[in-house]
Formats: sequence, structure tokens, C-alpha cells
Amino acid sequence: MLFSSLILLTLLPVVFGQQIIDGLIQALNASGLTSLASASAALNSTPQGQVVVQSISSGNWTIFAPSNQAFGSAPANLSSNASSVANILSYHIVSGNFTNESPEFPNITIGRTLLNDSSLVQLEGNKSQVLAWSKDNNGIFVINNGTIDRVQNTTSFQNFQILVIDAILQPPPKTSDVLANNIYNLNNLTAVLGVVNITGALDEAHGITLFAPNDTAFSTTQCNVSGLLSNVTAAIALLGNHIINGTTVYSPEFDAGNNFTSTSGEQFTFTSNSSGQFVSIGGSNTARIVRSDVLTSNGVVHVIDSVLCDTQSNPPAASSAVQSASSAAATMTTTETGPVGVAPTSTA
Ligand SMILES: *[C@@H]1O[C@H](CO)[C@@H](O)[C@H](O)[C@H]1NC(C)=O
Ligand SMILES: *[C@@H]1O[C@H](CO)[C@@H](O)[C@H](O)[C@H]1NC(C)=O
Ligand SMILES: *[C@@H]1O[C@H](CO)[C@@H](O)[C@H](O)[C@H]1NC(C)=O
Ligand SMILES: *[C@@H]1O[C@H](CO)[C@@H](O)[C@H](O)[C@H]1NC(C)=O
Ligand SMILES: *[C@@H]1O[C@H](CO)[C@@H](O)[C@H](O)[C@H]1NC(C)=O
Ligand SMILES: *[C@@H]1O[C@H](CO)[C@@H](O)[C@H](O)[C@H]1NC(C)=O
Ligand SMILES: *[C@@H]1O[C@H](CO)[C@@H](O)[C@H](O)[C@H]1NC(C)=O
Ligand SMILES: *[C@@H]1O[C@H](CO)[C@@H](O)[C@H](O)[C@H]1NC(C)=O
Ligand SMILES: *[C@@H]1O[C@H](CO)[C@@H](O)[C@H](O)[C@H]1NC(C)=O
Ligand SMILES: *[C@@H]1O[C@H](CO)[C@@H](O)[C@H](O)[C@H]1NC(C)=O
Ligand SMILES: *[C@@H]1O[C@H](CO)[C@@H](O)[C@H](O)[C@H]1NC(C)=O
Ligand SMILES: *[C@@H]1O[C@H](CO)[C@@H](O)[C@H](O)[C@H]1NC(C)=O
Repeated sequence: MLFSSLILLTLLPVVFGQQIIDGLIQALNASGLTSLASASAALNSTPQGQVVVQSISSGNWTIFAPSNQAFGSAPANLSSNASSVANILSYHIVSGNFTNESPEFPNITIGRTLLNDSSLVQLEGNKSQVLAWSKDNNGIFVINNGTIDRVQNTTSFQNFQILVIDAILQPPPKTSDVLANNIYNLNNLTAVLGVVNITGALDEAHGITLFAPNDTAFSTTQCNVSGLLSNVTAAIALLGNHIINGTTVYSPEFDAGNNFTSTSGEQFTFTSNSSGQFVSIGGSNTARIVRSDVLTSNGVVHVIDSVLCDTQSNPPAASSAVQSASSAAATMTTTETGPVGVAPTSTA
């Protein structure tokens, strides 16, 4: 008797989650999102999918819902492999309702998704991956792997805000793949990182923020980059002053009140004015952030227009920053239910 009640209690959340997901699937189906509805119907067949179902059985959620057209051009493994379906769908589900909280471009909203499979996401504190989106006169658009996917239509079901897009969003690639993606023009930076052999360390970090000077920044810089490269200590110090190790800092956290320590131990500070957002290191070298929030599997890249010519380093400050980042990561329990890096403004 006791035993069977225990079983019942254990099953209850799943059964309750199942009711919600059944309703959601019917709502998606009724809105013409029939491919997404059938993909979602497979969620309960894998442990990862069951976690997704249980997560969304309470709280407010935003779903970036791929249209049938998006599924039509999707890679085949999406329909054939149930655990990859769970991962892909979980990257489209964001905790919170952002209807009144998405600022206009160039400002970007960062929302925490349900994707946290460790083979695809290596953020600090095992945090789930984020999505980045913004808004203009034509509405909301997601920024995914350098392309823009516009919300085509919006509907809702119970506590789900459903934003229809014509794409299946891809989990962000490795940091080194972002560096190699020629849409960002980071060839010089890639070469310089290779000379001192720290590209591998960038990919291995759990939580990395890279301020990435583009190729024009290298061709116009006042500092003697090729001269610096003959001095490994100076080169490593310079590159370390473009990196935050152990902490992923998205653009909504670029705030005059937020200071972060570089891998070389210098302080980053942030300012903004009508011409954009700026990052400075060591209180003097400043660059404009020309493309923020390029997501990677283990952090984020922000493209900047100048090389931060700072070869100073402060090893004690650097190691204490890495240490506090790792102890912060160890105690991280928060799952944001609104924009990442923004103090909640409402209950939604
Ligand atoms: C938008 O969604 C509504 C509600 O599901 C649906 O009736 C309508 O046909 C959709 N419009 C487009 C252009 O897909
Ligand atoms: C969606 O609706 C169609 C037509 O009503 C039905 O045949 C199909 O089984 C439904 N799909 C799901 C996943 O519920
Ligand atoms: C969901 O949003 C409503 C308002 O839109 C709010 O009252 C409610 O507390 C939210 N629920 C959760 C679990 O955040
Ligand atoms: C972007 O955010 C900043 C800081 O909150 C604000 O001052 C600025 O007006 C915003 N820009 C747009 C286009 O919304
Ligand atoms: C990301 O974009 C690059 C080029 O822009 C492309 O080569 C790569 O395949 C894309 N990745 C995914 C997962 O779509
Ligand atoms: C999301 O918030 C908006 C504005 O507060 C509200 O109108 C809408 O009903 C909410 N959607 C859901 C699914 O709770
Ligand atoms: C940047 O790349 C260009 C083209 O590959 C090359 O000619 C130039 O020497 C590089 N500059 C630096 C500072 O590495
Ligand atoms: C380059 O760094 C990697 C770690 O990312 C290390 O395994 C490798 O031995 C290094 N190569 C050289 C030539 O130092
Ligand atoms: C980040 O810090 C860890 C721990 O100190 C270190 O092993 C790793 O090499 C650092 N990575 C970078 C890119 O500085
Ligand atoms: C670097 O960024 C600046 C500012 O946005 C831009 O004018 C320039 O074309 C970029 N350079 C490259 C090679 O993309
Ligand atoms: C190499 O750079 C470091 C740091 O800037 C500096 O202290 C050192 O004197 C330089 N060494 C040489 C041989 O120039
Ligand atoms: C951030 O750095 C600035 C400039 O160095 C300093 O004035 C400010 O007090 C620092 N803020 C915090 C929170 O440490």
C-alpha cells in the first residue's frame, strides 16, 4: 500500500508534465506547426526529453518554434535520433516571458534555454546555453551562428509564449570554430593566438569571454604586434588582456558598475554612449564593441574595432580572479527566468 503510493507520488510529476505537453502539442498542431508537434511528441521516449517535459510543466516559457518549412530543410538526424531531437528542441525553449522585455537593436536580449547536454555546452557552473535575440521595426529576430532568423508569427498556449521562426536553431560551435568563421574577419587574431598556442586553452575553458579585434583592428593598430610576438611573455600578456577566464559575460552585463579581471590580471571596464558600447582595459586602452554576443559552446566572443594594447600583467590578481570565478561556478544554482544579466523588472 505504502509502496504503491510511493510509486504513484514518484510518477505524478511526469504524468502532470505529460498533460501539459499533450496540450502544448495539440496547440502547436492546431497552429499549423505540425512538424514541431510530432517532434515534440517524441520527447517522452528519452531521459533527456523527459527532463524537458518535467521542466516546462510549471513556470513561464518562451518557445522559438520552427515552422514546417524549417523542418523541411533540416538535417535528417532531427527526425531519426530521439536524443538529438531532445537537445535541439531544448535549445528552442527559454525560461521566462519576454514580451515586454526585449530592447531594440543594437541592444541584445540573452535568454537561458534548457540545453545543457555537456557534449554541446561547457559553460561555467554547468549552466545551460543561452539564445541571443533583438528587436527592430519589423519585430523580434534571433541571432544564430551569424544569421538572423525573424519571428514570423506569435501565439500562446497557457504559460507558453510561442514565437514562430523559419529555422532550426543550432547550438553554438566551439570558440575556435567561431574564430575560424570568416564572417567575423578574425584571421589575424587567430594567427596570433596560434603563435602563443592558446587556442586550445580557449576551447577547454568552462566559461570564456573573448574580446576579439577584427582584421582591420590589427591593420590599424598603433602597437607593434609583430614585434610583440617575438617576446612570448609580452604576447601572452597582450592576448590575456582580451580574455576573461571562467566567466561568460554577455552584453547586458556591460555596465559601468561591473568590473571583470582579465586573464593577465588587469581590470576591464565598460562605457556606452550614442555611438555604442566600449570596453577598456587597465583604465586606458579602449575599443568599440562592433558585434557583441557571438555565442560559443563554452562562452562568448565580442568583436571589437581595436587591439587593446596593454602588455601589463598582474599574476596575483589574475589567479585570484580565476579562483573566485571557479568558486562562484561551484555554487551557481540560479536559472534565470528572464533576461540574463538584467535585474528582473516584473514578475513575468
Ligand atoms: C499565425 O498564427 C495564428 C494562430 O495560430 C494562425 O491562425 C495564423 O494562420 C498564423 N499566420 C501565419 C501567417 O502563419
Ligand atoms: C496533428 O493533427 C493531425 C490532424 O488533426 C493529426 O493527424 C496528427 O496526429 C496530429 N499530430 C500530433 C503530433 O498530435
Ligand atoms: C508567470 O507569469 C505571471 C505573469 O505573467 C506571473 O504572475 C507568475 O508568477 C509567473 N510564474 C512563474 C512561475 O514565474
Ligand atoms: C540600449 O541600452 C542602453 C542601456 O540600457 C540604453 O541607454 C539605450 O538607449 C538602449 N538603446 C536602444 C536602441 O534601445
Ligand atoms: C555556421 O556558419 C558557418 C559559415 O557562416 C558555416 O560554415 C557553418 O556550417 C554554420 N554552422 C552551423 C551549425 O550551421
Ligand atoms: C506574456 O506577457 C505578456 C505581457 O505581460 C502577456 O500579455 C502574455 O499573456 C504573457 N504570455 C504568457 C504565455 O503568459
Ligand atoms: C593580418 O593578416 C594579413 C592578411 O593575412 C597579413 O598580411 C598581416 O600581416 C596580418 N597582420 C598581423 C599584425 O598579423
Ligand atoms: C599547445 O597547447 C596544448 C594545450 O592546449 C598542449 O597540449 C600542446 O602541447 C601545446 N603545444 C606546444 C607546441 O606547446
Ligand atoms: C583558465 O584558468 C585555468 C585554471 O587556472 C587554466 O588551467 C586555463 O589554462 C586558463 N585558460 C585560459 C584561456 O587562460
Ligand atoms: C572591423 O570593424 C569595423 C567597425 O565595425 C569595420 O568598419 C571593419 O570593416 C571591420 N573589419 C573587418 C575586416 O571586418
Ligand atoms: C618581454 O616583455 C616583457 C613584458 O612586457 C618585458 O618585461 C620584457 O622586458 C620583454 N623582454 C624582452 C627581451 O624584450
Ligand atoms: C570599477 O572600476 C572603476 C575604474 O577603475 C572603479 O572606479 C570602480 O569603483 C570599480 N567598480 C567596482 C564595482 O569594483
